Amino acid sequence: METVNVGLLGVGTVGSGVVKILTENSEIIKKRLGFELNLKRVYAKKIKDDVKPLLEGKIANSYEELLNDDIDIVVELIGGTTFAKEFILEAIEKGKSIATANKALLAEFGYEIFSKAFDKKVDIGYEAAVAGGIPIIKSIKESLAANNIHSIKAIVNGTCNYILTEMFNKELPFDKVLKDAQEKGFAEADPTFDIDGIDSAHKMAILSSISFGDNVVAKEVYTEGIRNISLLDIKFADEFGYRIKLLGITRLIDDKIDVRVHPTLIKKDDTLAKTDGEFNAIKVRCDMDDETIYIGKGAGSLPTASAVVGDIMDIARNIKNKTNLRVPLMSFPFNFVRKREILNIDDLQMSYYLRFTVKDQAGVLSKISGVLGDYNISIKSVVQINKGDEWVPLIMFTHKAREADIKHALSIIEKLDIVKEKALLIRVDNDE
Ligand code: HSE
Repeated sequence: METVNVGLLGVGTVGSGVVKILTENSEIIKKRLGFELNLKRVYAKKIKDDVKPLLEGKIANSYEELLNDDIDIVVELIGGTTFAKEFILEAIEKGKSIATANKALLAEFGYEIFSKAFDKKVDIGYEAAVAGGIPIIKSIKESLAANNIHSIKAIVNGTCNYILTEMFNKELPFDKVLKDAQEKGFAEADPTFDIDGIDSAHKMAILSSISFGDNVVAKEVYTEGIRNISLLDIKFADEFGYRIKLLGITRLIDDKIDVRVHPTLIKKDDTLAKTDGEFNAIKVRCDMDDETIYIGKGAGSLPTASAVVGDIMDIARNIKNKTNLRVPLMSFPFNFVRKREILNIDDLQMSYYLRFTVKDQAGVLSKISGVLGDYNISIKSVVQINKGDEWVPLIMFTHKAREADIKHALSIIEKLDIVKEKALLIRVDNDE
């Protein structure tokens, strides 16, 4: 076999990046591999204009035509969990290896898809599914393989990080920044997956699975997004020495998994706090290699496509060497993949930033601190901003407390007549 044949499903943002890289960087790819990759067939409902001339004679009339061609590696870049799943399972059934960026699919049906690939002895590359251009999957599966991984803390959604950074830098409210980001094409027309934390939860499920040898699925990840974060909170956080980031956290504690996504106050000097704009950052703590941090572009056509093409090259090498499944698909062989208990966030102990909107009158502070005291919640610092309004913000930082106790206390406080609306709660990173 002189070349390895590649078939591509989907020529949107990432797919067109793959076409460009395979074309523009064909020389370096050939030099590194020692043989050529041939993009043989492409199927897409819509093809971006700038790559159409690069695809002459390659466009299939149906996805079946793509799958029935002499293709070694099938690249799935349409996203979603319905047709993409059927397509991938059919491709595996036909003995094709797969490269995909589909985090939603792997975070829900990964185990099923990987099991089928294992049975059929084909590879699946999914570097692009987590943090786009950052090589985190390979780092965990291969470079850190000698370690017990203890925890990961990560900014894995560029859209949220861009919005939070712009709010801070330009002192603009959430809605305005989101609208600007959509107009500039930085945020999707329907930004729900990004700003409600769902995209980050998919990525944290995948990272948890391959770090711990588990099968964590997206619905097990406690998830909160950034819709409720106001400019006021970003400014208060700054005054107290923090930045607010949408953080994904996964930790192994006494053989149970604590995995969650929520806005978090992080000390300003932490690398994660200093990672701004559309950049992603992933901090991995393990026993032998201590702490490693990975920063880069987590989205975008070429960075994500670069990860996809890296996977295609990896699989092509296996095909040339007549091998497969050299590295276990889930990072551990299936007989070592377990299903551990997922810790309930209500049982965790964390420190909190609380913002109440209160009447500026005598006794308010003592009423609120009294309820917190009843639930064994100790206050670390308090500040009240008074600009002469009837209702004013009251900010409290707590020492570590049990999440369930905080929630109970807040449900009582919100019924007090000196308090307007629900308190805003943001968890504080205790760096452990
Ligand atoms: N929408 C994601 C982000 C990129 O904003 O980071 C794709 O996972």
